[in-house]
Order: sequence, then C-alpha cells, then structure tokens
Amino acid sequence: MTRTALVTGANQGIGYALIEELAARLAPSDRVLLTGRDADRVAAAADRARARATSQVEGRVLDVSDPEAIASLAGELGHTDIVISNAIAPLVPDRPQAEQADEFLAVSNGATHAVLRSFAPTLPPGGRLLIVASGLGTLGYLDPRLHPLFDEVTLAEVETAVDDWRRSIHDGTAREKGWPAWLNVPSKVAQVAAVRAAATRRRAEDLANGRLIAAVCPGLVDTRASRPWFDDFSRAKTPAESAKPIVDLVLNPLDPAMYGELVQFGKVLPWRNGEPMDREVS
Ligand SMILES: NC(=O)c1ccc[n+]([C@@H]2O[C@H](COP(=O)([O-])OP(=O)(O)OC[C@H]3O[C@@H](n4cnc5c(N)ncnc54)[C@H](OP(=O)(O)O)[C@@H]3O)[C@@H](O)[C@H]2O)c1
Repeated sequence: MTRTALVTGANQGIGYALIEELAARLAPSDRVLLTGRDADRVAAAADRARARATSQVEGRVLDVSDPEAIASLAGELGHTDIVISNAIAPLVPDRPQAEQADEFLAVSNGATHAVLRSFAPTLPPGGRLLIVASGLGTLGYLDPRLHPLFDEVTLAEVETAVDDWRRSIHDGTAREKGWPAWLNVPSKVAQVAAVRAAATRRRAEDLANGRLIAAVCPGLVDTRASRPWFDDFSRAKTPAESAKPIVDLVLNPLDPAMYGELVQFGKVLPWRNGEPMDREVS
C-alpha cells in the first residue's frame, strides 16, 4: 500500500536531509511531502530531492506558524503514515530574544501542538509521528521552579505554560520567574513535554496498533539554526548523518521503550537529564 510521509521545515538543513533519506528508503510508489513556508524555496528543494529520489517527492507550502494551515493539510491528506515536525525559525544572539520570541515559539511550539492535535488522530496503524526537539529538551535544563509546568501535565497545560512564558517575556517578568534568556531551552523542553503529554493519553491504543509518537534529537549539526550559537563544529554531524538514525526510528519495527520519549541515536534520553542552563543574551 502506498504510504505518505511529510516533513515540515524541509527546504534546508536537517528537514531537507530527512526528505532525501526517506525518499531513498521508501518504496517507489510512496509519496514524500517536502513542506516549507516559501513557495520558491520549496519548489527548488523538491526539484533537488527529486533528482536523487526513488520514491515520489512533492513540494507543498506549509507555514507551520499557522495552526489552521496544519489542520487543513491534515484533513486534506486524511491518513498520513509518517509525520516529522522539524521546522524552526531563525534565532540569533545579537537581537533581543523578546523581539524574536513570537515567531520562534509559534514555529517550534505552536506547530508542535498543532501537529500533535491535527496529525496524531490521522496516523494509521504502524504510523509514526516524530517531533524534532533537542538533547536540551529534558526537564533538568530548566530552573526547578518551572518543572511543575511541564512534568506529568496535559497537552493543554503545556500550551498554557508556553503562552504564559511568552507573555512574561513581553511584560519583562520572565527572568524573575526562572525562565532563561535563551529561548531555545524552554522551547525544546516544552516540545518534549508536549510529546509526553499527548503520548500518555494514547499509549495503550498506539502500541496495540504499532504506532509511534516520540521526540527526537539529531545531535549537533552545522546548519543555520546552530551556527550562531556554537563555535566548535569539529564533532558535528552533517545533516545527512543526522537524518539516518531518525529515519531508522521511522522505518524500524516499533520499540515500545521509545514510545513518548526523547530519542537520540536510537537511545532514550532520560526526561530528568540536565542542569539549568542559559546563554548571555539580551
Ligand atoms: N542543527 C542542530 O545542531 C540541531 C540540534 C538539535 C536540534 N535541532 C533541531 O532540528 C530541527 C531542524 O533544525 P535545522 O538545524 O535543520 O534548522 P535550519 O537549517 O534553520 O532549518 C529550519 C527549517 O525550518 C523552516 N521554517 C522556518 N520557519 C518556518 C515556518 N513558519 N513554516 C515552515 N517552515 C519554517 C526553514 O525554512 P526557511 O528556509 O524558509 O527559513 C527551514 O527549512 C529544529 O527543530 C532544531 O531545533 C537542530
């Protein structure tokens, strides 16, 4: 049977590499949807991927900061077998984080919530839904005062926590409440918390039907997203290298131990990992 795979934020970086890896490993009749926010960049990337693919590659415009667009595409596609929510908005250290927060949170967190709400119900038996997060997405990286917002909570509670965080960034109270200045850490913890919340409710039924919902960390990869924040890429993976273990997780038989967890290179990262961390940014 023909399968449909979809990757968000796929015109460059890890998302594009995921498209190439999927398109090389799925069947010739399977359909790989390369999505991104800009029609020209999507079309150019889809042409490039098609030249190397064995399965069908289709470019689709999807701006993931628009939850209605996500819901509408999920409805149009009906059943989507493989969904990888990967997009991230540009974030730089030399502009105030508050100026970048609305877009950054909409693309990483709003989209995570919308993908879980709109696509998880469309996963057929054997389906896979992965949220690309980060190794920095474990609870220990946050100030302990914030842990109750993300630990053993519902998806609606994660959404509320992200909304409250965003508001406190704008009203200037975020730091005193324990939020780090660097947006990336709480955003990634919130993505993993959202996966855990959604997965808790669906675990028994999904496992009975061979479905996997999980968060993944690609490791350090030299891309637009990481370049402004790290100096040493000597041990970084290429996007293609980072895509392989993620697609392994998609295509390998389901391991129930991975369900609802944050997975890096085929191993679960414990939810309570990490020490509170921040970066010197305004
Ligand atoms: N790179 C690393 O070391 C690293 C480490 C850990 C986790 N990750 C995670 O891996 C994922 C991919 O990151 P990356 O490093 O590949 O980043 P990237 O190279 O900056 O690519 C980000 C992609 O997201 C797209 N995007 C931005 N805003 C969008 C929107 N509103 N709607 C749809 N697409 C949008 C971008 O499209 P445009 O080209 O149009 O901007 C681009 O295709 C992210 O979730 C990131 O946090 C990366």
